Amino acid sequence: MEILTCKDYSAMSQKAAEIIASQIKSKPDSALGLATGSTPIKMYDQLVEMHKDSLIDFSQIKTFNLDEYCELPQSNPQSYYYFMEENFFRKVNLKKEQIYIPNGVAEDLELECVNYDNLIDSSGGIDLQVLGIGNNSHIGFNEPKDYFEKNTHITQLDESTLEANARFFDDNIEAVPKKAITMGIGSIFKSKKIMLLASGESKAKAIYNTLYGKITPTVPSSILNLHPNVIIILDEKAASLLDEQDFKRV
Ligand code: GLP
Repeated sequence: MEILTCKDYSAMSQKAAEIIASQIKSKPDSALGLATGSTPIKMYDQLVEMHKDSLIDFSQIKTFNLDEYCELPQSNPQSYYYFMEENFFRKVNLKKEQIYIPNGVAEDLELECVNYDNLIDSSGGIDLQVLGIGNNSHIGFNEPKDYFEKNTHITQLDESTLEANARFFDDNIEAVPKKAITMGIGSIFKSKKIMLLASGESKAKAIYNTLYGKITPTVPSSILNLHPNVIIILDEKAASLLDEQDFKRV
């Protein structure tokens, strides 16, 4: 595992965008696993800028998003599909056929879960998976529980996640969907490389627990210690509880 600390959110985002750019350069038809949340927003901005400057071409890639709320159609501004369109997809040369996001309003959600994992597998697997991290150490929407959920599944969101995400719903916790569809830990683990991003003081404890605590499903991100190719990119504040010798400043 490689842990890099950048001076601030902007530098962290730039570093993450550079890693995606070099992935696409070395394999133009890469499959990227993508994340939502506020953390990767600036990384997407940087990728859009690189695209405008003709430094990156998305024409051959495929994208698979980690998760989606149940009950929200794609047209809902709070859906992750809408988020991805607004922040990234419509701003670069990506066509609809290249984009996959689990459908949170599928008629048969269990089938949607199975189909989503099959889709990822049949397209050769994800080359680079981007992750954020929840305050409770969730990755995707894999919430703390007493076992690691392997495959894409429907999950009940934690009270703390509902609280954290209420900010996107006019601070109305009642408006936050209670369920989501998310890649499982096994689905994430099949990725050849994983890049986790964390920014700000509110993530410092989750990062500390990920790196220094036990590997346990009550800290879902702790499982990343077992993946052979993980890079964690932090800003100073997210790295504030780590020992200086455990990361590299870039
Ligand atoms: C959300 C998403 C995660 C994201 C996390 C952190 O609920 N499901 O994929 O990484 O929470 O979000 P943020 O970056 O806004 O702190």
